[in-house]
Amino acid sequence: MRLDLAGKAVLVTGAASGIGLACARAFLAEGARVGVLDRAPAPELDGDVVTVRADVTDEASMAAAVGEVAGRFGGLDVVVGCAGISGPVGTPLADTTAAEFGALLAVNVTGQFLLVKHAAPWLSAAGGAVVLLASDSAFTSAPGMVPYCASKGAVVALTRALSVDLPGVRVNCVCPSVVDTPMARADLGAVLDEPAFPVQAAEDVACQVLYLASACSRTVNGQAVLADFGVSARSGFPA
Ligand SMILES: NC(=O)c1ccc[n+]([C@@H]2O[C@H](COP(=O)([O-])OP(=O)(O)OC[C@H]3O[C@@H](n4cnc5c(N)ncnc54)[C@H](O)[C@@H]3O)[C@@H](O)[C@H]2O)c1
Repeated sequence: MRLDLAGKAVLVTGAASGIGLACARAFLAEGARVGVLDRAPAPELDGDVVTVRADVTDEASMAAAVGEVAGRFGGLDVVVGCAGISGPVGTPLADTTAAEFGALLAVNVTGQFLLVKHAAPWLSAAGGAVVLLASDSAFTSAPGMVPYCASKGAVVALTRALSVDLPGVRVNCVCPSVVDTPMARADLGAVLDEPAFPVQAAEDVACQVLYLASACSRTVNGQAVLADFGVSARSGFPA
């Protein structure tokens, strides 16, 4: 499959770590130009890279950071929203404060909204693509994940609404199950190393993102791609 991403102008948020970093590396390996946006310092990357520091919850800093990358590249072809947080995972509902709930939605939902809002004027109306990180947690849950699941369900709905609002720009999201990244290590620890527990790599998610960013998926729009090894397809029926 030819992705034809060489020379494309790409902006990835949350690109200093985990899935965002794997996406940035994968786009660079295809010859794309990559804007690396994070609130944390990003590692050195080989290729045509513009690095910007911004907090995705801060509209002024997002407007400036997106504008800086798009200005340097002369526009944007692809935007990928990976910045996200998981906490307070494992906290009982009764102990979860409204402030914690709101802080998580600010990063995982408002951050994606601000990214697309400020990238939209720069996105190519002929073939532009947005890929947002949702999660299988938009569809399934475990105890203590109410704020995170609510935020990822909102990203799926945001994706569908944005695909209607941005003519000529495809907007899709990916919904991976557990991915071995610093976020998942912090939340789950050694569970990730149990052979019976299906865990994907950040590079697996990057493959899904690059497909949705490329013209190979030109007919796919407003979709949530659930990648969970088929676990959620299994009925609870004991057979
Ligand atoms: N790891 C998993 O199991 C998993 C599964 C499904 C979906 N996801 C989603 O994938 C995305 C990436 O997660 P990851 O596992 O790579 O996590 P990670 O912690 O390794 O990376 C997240 C990055 O986002 C950045 N970030 C966080 N808040 C920010 C803010 N306010 N402004 C700017 N940057 C900010 C962090 O600095 C970090 O570099 C998240 O949206 C996460 O919810 C992760």
